[in-house]
Amino acid sequence: MPFVTSGGMFRDAYGGGYAVGAFNVNNMEIIQGITEAAAEVRAPLILQVSAGARKYAKHVYLLKLVEAALEDTGLPICLHLDHGENFEICRSCVDGGFTSVMIDGSRHTFEENVRLTSEVVKYAHDRGVVVEGELGRLSGVEDDVSVADEDAQFTRPDEVEEFVSRTGVDSLAIAIGTSHGAYKFKPGQKPRLRFDILEDVGKRLPGFPIVLHGASSVAPEFAEIINRNGGAMPDAVGIPEDMLREAAKMAVCKINIDTDLRMAMTAGIREHMAANPSHFDPREYLRPGRDNIRALVRNKLVNVLGCDGKA
Ligand code: G3H
Ligand code: 13P
Ligand code: ZN
Repeated sequence: MPFVTSGGMFRDAYGGGYAVGAFNVNNMEIIQGITEAAAEVRAPLILQVSAGARKYAKHVYLLKLVEAALEDTGLPICLHLDHGENFEICRSCVDGGFTSVMIDGSRHTFEENVRLTSEVVKYAHDRGVVVEGELGRLSGVEDDVSVADEDAQFTRPDEVEEFVSRTGVDSLAIAIGTSHGAYKFKPGQKPRLRFDILEDVGKRLPGFPIVLHGASSVAPEFAEIINRNGGAMPDAVGIPEDMLREAAKMAVCKINIDTDLRMAMTAGIREHMAANPSHFDPREYLRPGRDNIRALVRNKLVNVLGCDGKA
């Protein structure tokens, strides 16, 4: 069974008022934790690979590991490039077996973003691959591109129709106040998302799938375990889960999660090593990391995204 594109997943998600989880993958334990949880609750999945993940694990290892998960679970899985920054990396992933790519032209001018995104769309669509574009900029760190907080720019709703019609993208990431990483709001700051922008975009693009990046909740239970076992993430704060649930009921069909996976794995490893300082077999400390990821993803699929039972 081959990978699927996200086209059918998004049509169902839009109509059903839920979102599909897009989880970043970097190694076998992360892939197993995510896909075992999805198999338990029969959820469709998008597994996404960043440029950094390709550098760390190599394209072919991640491709083959996700193929193994497909064979093991029989789930509909879309393999997606996260934050492709130029045409070359998108082409490499289209040619290398991915069924979806993101071209992130959000740091360019509108016109350059349109030109670059259109180029990728032409290449990908000719080969049956779907494309995600981005308009507006998230604060925080996007792969190698650092965007200072003060530079954060929300998506301008009056640009989205022109962008989608001129580029032909299949989905659009927008900036409404989420950001990448574990420190999304300053200590004491009330988390706030611009639902008015999301609503406006949804009205202008009826039925069109919107993507939310930087959507980790920075799982407080795992932050607490990390801090209790020698880690130092006291000010970590993410997007409240009820806000994500709200977005999933609106036009948001894809919700990106990476930081929560990292924290779940790190919490498992730290807790295990603190309790068992003599252990040195990686299987002993990676297992609790993988177990934490399975529990975290199961909760997201069922209680946040609402995509359980949709595979
Ligand atoms: O949006 C960024 C993702 O969390 C990927 O991060 O470039 O460190 O793999 P990475
Ligand atoms: P988080 O850092 O909030 O997990 O966001 C991940 C993401 O947007 C990947 O593209
Ligand atoms: Zn992102």
